Amino acid sequence: SRRVGAPARENFPPMRHRIPLLSLDNAMNAEELQAFHLRVRRWLATDEELAFCCEPKFDGLAVELVYQDGILVRGGTRGDGFTGEEVTRNLQTIPSIPLRLHIPNPPPLLEARGEVIMSRGAFEQLNRERSRQGEGLFANPRNAAAGSLRQLDSRITARRALEFYAYGVSEPLALGVDSQYAVLEYLSALGFKINPDRQLCTDFHQVSAFIEHMQSRREELPYEIDGVVIKLDRVNLQERLGVKARAPRWVVAYKFPPTQATTQLRDIMIQVGRTGVLTPVAVLEPVVVGGARVSRATLHNEDEIRRKDLRVGDTVIVQRAGDVIPEVVAPVLSRRNGSEGVFSMPEICPVCGSPAVREGVVRRCINMSCPSIVKEGIFHFASKEAMNIDGLGRRTIDRMVENALVKNVADLYGLHLDDLMRLEGFAELSATNLLEAIAISRNATLARFVFALGIPHVGSVAARALAEHAGSLASLMESTQEDLLSVAGIGPQIAASIVEFFANTQNRKVIEELLAYGVRLEAPQITDDKTAPLAGKRLCFTGKLATWGRNQARALVETLGAQVVDSVSSGLDYLVVGSDPGSKLDKARSLGVPVLTEDEFQQLIRAPRP
Ligand code: IVH
Repeated sequence: SRRVGAPARENFPPMRHRIPLLSLDNAMNAEELQAFHLRVRRWLATDEELAFCCEPKFDGLAVELVYQDGILVRGGTRGDGFTGEEVTRNLQTIPSIPLRLHIPNPPPLLEARGEVIMSRGAFEQLNRERSRQGEGLFANPRNAAAGSLRQLDSRITARRALEFYAYGVSEPLALGVDSQYAVLEYLSALGFKINPDRQLCTDFHQVSAFIEHMQSRREELPYEIDGVVIKLDRVNLQERLGVKARAPRWVVAYKFPPTQATTQLRDIMIQVGRTGVLTPVAVLEPVVVGGARVSRATLHNEDEIRRKDLRVGDTVIVQRAGDVIPEVVAPVLSRRNGSEGVFSMPEICPVCGSPAVREGVVRRCINMSCPSIVKEGIFHFASKEAMNIDGLGRRTIDRMVENALVKNVADLYGLHLDDLMRLEGFAELSATNLLEAIAISRNATLARFVFALGIPHVGSVAARALAEHAGSLASLMESTQEDLLSVAGIGPQIAASIVEFFANTQNRKVIEELLAYGVRLEAPQITDDKTAPLAGKRLCFTGKLATWGRNQARALVETLGAQVVDSVSSGLDYLVVGSDPGSKLDKARSLGVPVLTEDEFQQLIRAPRP
């Protein structure tokens, strides 16, 4: 692992650990975890349930603190486990390290072990500051913590917002403590910070549940963890198992997938978005990170590339956590060989060749008929939160635009069956289905339509507020900047963007065409009408409905003051079930969410108002 065997640097005096700080065996998956459990039981020759103390595994830097008669006399890093670096003065600057133990009769000798970490918040702030001062960025909080602790000037360490969490002592029995859980409580009583997320598990199912629980909360925690440490709780049992090679037999580290990896930055390509903004995208040598394969990552804009000093050909650190979009964190400078290329943003649009003009931090293609702008605009228009045209994906849009079937979103409604059937990948049935989906989307709410137009800076929330405020498309189109500023949540930038959008004759023409094709907009119902039959309720649909298309059902429900959601949770008021329902029905039943048939739903919405 990256920690083991790191030799002590010369700058700090060596600190020999009286009792070595061992490393941990890893379990990378459920099988390896089970294997650990079985091994422990076999060695102890027991059929009884064993208690395990589970703790999040901090991703920081292991440290040992030595207290004599209650006074901190020495502290150092783990190093190779036998000898680390003595960094006492730096450790003394960390507020969560007690300089003196908080009890009247401290033990003559206490060797406390734990982790020095930097919180995500402190790490981000430090990097922001370093960026402002033109200093290199730390790749992650662990590197930042390590770098901060190994400062020759402890005043720098003192400024670095480090924390220490204690998780063990060298010899619990010598201190009269007989279980790992009790060790944590003891450390807490001495004045150390311990992890609030520890759990004593009295059977192994609880261990698995704890791991899952921590994994699901991983991104919410204020500090980084890279797994869960599972420790056989009773110290006498730990001693019976003992140590093999460099790791004890009584503990295992269940590792989560790493959220960072290194790979090569092969190229930087340019994507042209819906509003014409040119976005540089990293083309990466594919690498698995955070449990998923990553080959592309947005680089945001030119300034960001310069700030991170990324060059084509660099070895880079890539990060992806949970649902978070992959990100290139920093180059690995030590891997540079001089062949890397400095990137500069093109001054013409790579898709259509028109000038790309600089606007603040971005460059924008000025040709509103640029194929890329057209495609992205249609993709947005068709998306779920907008007109929700089922089955109109990127590939189909690309083919439609490339075959000149559509030049703008209005052209979608003029498509004929034989137009679509000429396209690669379409047969009669698929073409009919798509035309039907397009036709259904003609009934929309004003809010969806406004969002679908793709006005720069207008998201779905702003669109809803605008629809409620204006009441009709005509009124919105004539709104002045001043009118718009009176809408909650609409600031000067959005207001200006709306006025500019509707002033554009090209845009007005597309809107007229849409209306001529029969796009009908339902006036918004103010959802705070408390007497509306479904006011404030949350509904979800599953299966095929006989009476309505999905869009119609959604629009109907919304005009009745309720909200349609896509997934079943315990906060749902009703699940409406059509034919061939899927797993949502099982989930609703298991959560006790009321389930309505289509008929029952009809009755409900016709019910007299209370
Ligand atoms: S116990 C013999 N508990 O993980 C057991 N270690 O690969 C010693 N770590 O460098 C370790 N959180 O710094 C333990 N709650 C925790 C931990 C933890 C993080 C680190 C530790 C060590 C590494 C082992």
